[in-house]
Amino acid sequence: MDTIQIKDKQFSISIPEQDILKEVSRVADEINRDLAGKNPLFISVLNGSFMFTADLMKRIHIPCEISFVKLASYQGVSSTGVIKEVIGLNEDLTDRTVVIVEDIVDTGLTMQRLLETLGTRGPKEIHIASLLVKPDKLKVDLNIEYVAMEIPNDFIVGYGLDYDGFGRNYPDIYTVVE
Ligand code: IMP
Ligand code: MG
Repeated sequence: MDTIQIKDKQFSISIPEQDILKEVSRVADEINRDLAGKNPLFISVLNGSFMFTADLMKRIHIPCEISFVKLASYQGVSSTGVIKEVIGLNEDLTDRTVVIVEDIVDTGLTMQRLLETLGTRGPKEIHIASLLVKPDKLKVDLNIEYVAMEIPNDFIVGYGLDYDGFGRNYPDIYTVVE
């Protein structure tokens, strides 16, 4: 399927699954190398990062734990700037090496909020792993150490990412056709 229709918008394929997985494997290698011996706690941010998290974690071979949180700030195709609370985090972060696993960093406001919230819980260090980054949209200064792919400003769906709740199930990434 080279083009898909979701509600009022058409999308065309921009990053095939095999290209995504190649970069996810590279990121996993970097994490395996950098965080060996640190028993990292991966915190996956639902819903968008579920597919990235699954493919990433299958390639992590060091002892680690994984947990999931929810936090949403997005409606339709533009960031609302309304940041909701972090829910579902029951783990003790004291002295832990934490890796936040996100689908995409757009303005960076969501990530900044997460860092603030997790930072109050006494972790030793917090790393960021994001499947995608839109560098031209970044509004805040973030050290995103693990990035699978940088993309332009266009709105995308697939591989976990949605348009109004739809499109998360596609294994490839699609870009909106303007
Ligand atoms: P930020 O706070 O502006 O960095 O927005 C981050 C969140 O917006 C991500 O976790 C996604 O849920 C959503 N988002 C940003 N860009 C896109 C996109 O192109 N497609 C789908 N969701 C997106
Ligand atoms: Mg997200």
